[in-house]
Amino acid sequence: MALLKHIAEEVLGRDKAVLLWKRIDVIGDIAVIKKPMHGEVSIEDLRLVAGELLKRLPHVRSVWLALGPVGGVYKVRQNLVHLAGERRTSTVYREHGAVFLVDISKVFITPRLSYEHLRVARLVKPGETVVNMFAGVGIFSIIIALKSRPSKVYSIDINPEAHRLMVENIRLNRVERVVEPLLGDSARVVSESLRGVADRILMPLPDLALDYIKYALEALGGRGWLHVYLHVDYEKGKGHLRRACELVKSRVEERGWRLIKSNARVVRSVGPKLLQVVVDAEVERYG
Ligand SMILES: C[S@@+](CC[C@H](N)C(=O)[O-])C[C@H]1O[C@@H](n2cnc3c(N)ncnc32)[C@H](O)[C@@H]1O
Repeated sequence: MALLKHIAEEVLGRDKAVLLWKRIDVIGDIAVIKKPMHGEVSIEDLRLVAGELLKRLPHVRSVWLALGPVGGVYKVRQNLVHLAGERRTSTVYREHGAVFLVDISKVFITPRLSYEHLRVARLVKPGETVVNMFAGVGIFSIIIALKSRPSKVYSIDINPEAHRLMVENIRLNRVERVVEPLLGDSARVVSESLRGVADRILMPLPDLALDYIKYALEALGGRGWLHVYLHVDYEKGKGHLRRACELVKSRVEERGWRLIKSNARVVRSVGPKLLQVVVDAEVERYG
């Protein structure tokens, strides 16, 4: 991070660099710059920074500008513009000793969830069955399989390209016996084949997580853990964390389940005063 800041400051000066350097992600050998939200950073400025990134970061071979945020059902970066280096969008991304084939133009991928992937993996107890309802290319699922000792991780995604890469990633990381890739809408997959199987459910898609709690509860066997990712407005004094827990509690109770305990933490900032938070909730069916 410090080097990215330094490079941006050298090329553009402090005033422009401040708009930019936190918006650079390095994914494998590809750097992606998210278009600055404010200020006067031109495409020529961005090409200068891109050229310097190629020179100064020897592992970076390709630099892209993302004009829009991730979007659509598949949560893919939209409107990518090539800035410098190889005109390539697929790469090998490494995290916590695992390797992942990814394509920044076809699947969701961010290095900003790296801490969260490991944090959740460490919560998984030996023998647990985990359902990952929004698995992408399988990062949470594979890191759980490598770092903990689950008996099974069902890993669902609706994007055929994410599913294809997940199948490859499972094989590359040699976790075929633990991680089962499933293609489709997780509501349908759970209702048709995963009722009552799970001890823990991951819901890393803020757009759908609250509405899909009813399917997550179907997948649980009477008691277990939900990890629900949400976007909430920042409130002073951690009001946002309290509110996130309350949102989950009311959805759980609506379905005739009890919230035994919950804890929320900020995962990352996703916009001005908008946070991604995760609620870890232990729940139990009444009766
Ligand atoms: C934010 S990404 C998941 C990120 C991934 N867990 C990671 O850590 O890299 C959300 C994923 O949910 C998938 N998705 C969207 N709607 C879905 C649905 N109804 N059922 C299953 N997957 C869905 C998208 O294709 C996308 O890959």
